[in-house]
Amino acid sequence: MPVTIQQIIQWKQLGRTIVALTAWDYITAQLIDAAGIDIVLVGDSMAVMLGYETTLPITLDEMIYHAKAVRRGVKRALMVVDLPFLTYQESIQQAIHSAGRVLKESGAQAVKVEGGYPAMIETVERLVQAGIPVMAHVGLTPQSVHQLGLKQQGKTEDSAQHILNEAIALEQAGAFSIVLEHIPSNLASQITEQLSIPTIGIGASVHCDGQVLVTSDILGLSEKQPPFAKVYTNLREIISGAILKYSTEVKERKFPT
Ligand code: KIV
Ligand code: NA
Repeated sequence: MPVTIQQIIQWKQLGRTIVALTAWDYITAQLIDAAGIDIVLVGDSMAVMLGYETTLPITLDEMIYHAKAVRRGVKRALMVVDLPFLTYQESIQQAIHSAGRVLKESGAQAVKVEGGYPAMIETVERLVQAGIPVMAHVGLTPQSVHQLGLKQQGKTEDSAQHILNEAIALEQAGAFSIVLEHIPSNLASQITEQLSIPTIGIGASVHCDGQVLVTSDILGLSEKQPPFAKVYTNLREIISGAILKYSTEVKERKFPT
């Protein structure tokens, strides 16, 4: 049975930990889905696979193109797609138009938007009213990299209070879950306790209702990983080894046999 948004919310109440990973293509999506991962996120972290320094250049058409490939590989997991930079911040109309295109053209069940006060609260509310499920994202929001950098957020009392208030307002606006990125453990646990929607942490401690990481980071495929990622295997090394072996065998006329 495919995972639903209602289930994701219910799992928080049941204390069942939610597992999420990113996918940008059919093959990866298929492997993640077959492993029983609950949420597949077509993240704009896809920028790393396309050779960009930040997530900012990613377009809505690129997200939809990759989301359609991911859709073909996902049977069970809930599929969420990032709205890329400046495809939802301009106006509520723009947000509804972009999110609507994602749902209609890719077949995803939900979109994710970054940020909170003040603008994003009304945007989330209006998206939800239009029938578009929204995953929120606070703390370190990489689309604001030129303002925030990539450092941990919520370290001062004021900043922590601001993030907590944003999370509460986003839940009230109708978000069905919220990503907490790179914030202190005590803040993540405070937000998780106060919200009734699930918190999905990335660099936000074990005190969240679920976890997400970028798949190319856990596979050791990204050129560099954020400090909070865990690298479970080194695919760069494995792939390089296979490429070199093929090359050597062709040159030495050992392949084909
Ligand atoms: O783009 C992305 O992959 C994300 C997750 C890391 C939360 O936003
Ligand atoms: Na993202």
